[in-house]
Amino acid sequence: MRARVPAKVNLALLVGGTDQQGYHELGTIFQAISLEDELTVEASEPGHFTVSTLGEGASFLPGDHTNLAVRAARLFAEHVDIRDAGAAIRIRKRIPVSGGLAGGSADAAATLVACNELWGRPATIDELVGLAAELGSDVPFLLMGETALGTGRGEVLEALPVCGEYHWILALSHSGLSTPAVFREFDRLQQPGPTVVPAELVSALAVGDVSAVGAALTNDLQPAALRLLPTLERTLDIGLDAGALGGIVSGSGPTCAFLADNDELVGDVAAALEVSSSVRAVRRARGPVLGAEVVV
Ligand code: C5P
Repeated sequence: MRARVPAKVNLALLVGGTDQQGYHELGTIFQAISLEDELTVEASEPGHFTVSTLGEGASFLPGDHTNLAVRAARLFAEHVDIRDAGAAIRIRKRIPVSGGLAGGSADAAATLVACNELWGRPATIDELVGLAAELGSDVPFLLMGETALGTGRGEVLEALPVCGEYHWILALSHSGLSTPAVFREFDRLQQPGPTVVPAELVSALAVGDVSAVGAALTNDLQPAALRLLPTLERTLDIGLDAGALGGIVSGSGPTCAFLADNDELVGDVAAALEVSSSVRAVRRARGPVLGAEVVV
């Protein structure tokens, strides 16, 4: 069974206080973008759950039971009570690892939909969403796709109406950032604030005013990511100086995401970033796109 799954960017990420497990309350707007991983799941020997990865950053991923895709397959098999389940997962990665684009969460979401198809669709969509939330705060959004408001830990979702075409230029970094480390740095640097996403961002999305969306992009984790990786400041300046309508660190970083409304501007921003020593590689993507789905 083959599935594709998008990456995400956070157009707004407001971070509040922590709950009893240490998770932060979030107010975020996710958009799914056309930078995608592909994976296949095949039935395997009973009790054997394996994963192999190819492509972008594959050598940095765990190949054992700690891989989020393996955890997703095991959790699914347990939940629907498939006796003698086993699965061999192969992932072709295009979403950078530890990049702030939810690559690991994306693979978990794709594994859930592929396993459901492989084993005859025993789970409803609501059950898949519940399993997704157990695996990680971003996983439910990667099942849903498009553009959504996320609250709670980011797993409580509401679809947002969106017009317009959003062209993203992604500046990948030479090194990754650990999400827990960025949240810890956030806690050290500042007091948690309100988590209400900007109303002007929601209304700009609804009418397709891409310039206004660019101007309203916001990320509370950005100062923490910049503290941990100061070269990101230069990357942001280069993209904005080249005319991007907005630019932010994506999620917990270190990928920087720049917004444009036409191909010519995409070319200008990408060309400026490609020659920067602070940037490992540049990717182009558009949004919004669908969430994880089986492909034939
Ligand atoms: O939910 P997920 O496992 O993807 O989160 C990874 C880490 O990010 C958590 O262990 C936590 O340190 C941090 N996090 C957080 N608050 C959230 C989501 C994630 O502190 N709402």
